[in-house]
Amino acid sequence: MNIKYLGHSAFYMEAGNYSAIIDPFITDNPQCTATVDDFNNLNHIFVTHGHGDHLGDAVELAIKTNATIITNFELGNYLLFNNKNISVHTMHIGGSTVIDGVSIKMTNALHGSCVITTDQDIIYAGNPCGFLINYDGIKIYHAGDTGLTLDMKLLEDEHVNAALLPIGGNFTMDIPDACKAVDFVKPDLAIPMHYNTFPPIKADPYKFQESASCKVKVMDINQVITI
Ligand code: NI
Ligand code: MN
Repeated sequence: MNIKYLGHSAFYMEAGNYSAIIDPFITDNPQCTATVDDFNNLNHIFVTHGHGDHLGDAVELAIKTNATIITNFELGNYLLFNNKNISVHTMHIGGSTVIDGVSIKMTNALHGSCVITTDQDIIYAGNPCGFLINYDGIKIYHAGDTGLTLDMKLLEDEHVNAALLPIGGNFTMDIPDACKAVDFVKPDLAIPMHYNTFPPIKADPYKFQESASCKVKVMDINQVITI
């Protein structure tokens, strides 16, 4: 499985004929150099919650590529009400399923979730989440936006290959809490995300690399690693 970092919490992943994007904050993402035009074949679009820096370009990508958006029930239905022709698969916290041969579990996240409309309405978008994605035995955990939770300890039994963890603080875990998350999840590899995109989430990922109890890969924008 190849994983490419697009900046913030956005990752592209591909293996064989399968490709997916997680939290596709592309167009308005100051870290991201990719554009929606760069993605022509996607199977799945994972969206952890409704905040704009995660929902991002999900609908545009779904329309363009016919990919299925995988998200929670409330946000999924909100997207469907507004875009009748997109494909959406809804799940909820603790639920597991298999879609196109990929095992997916929706995990807990401690955060908020809403969609802010252009006329400044705040629409409730259900619980925020993370995803445990198992493609052919390779397990990727994308934590979404979350504070540290003791529930992360439950993931230890999953033998996660790569944990994508927010470290920027203010809205999510900071580095000390992300280090505790590593202690709970015990992944083979941790990849920091959700830092330095905006001033309130300034963090030094190399401090996380020094302090965490597992191997940490600080990914450059557009860097690809193989898990
Ligand atoms: Ni958020
Ligand atoms: Mn966020």
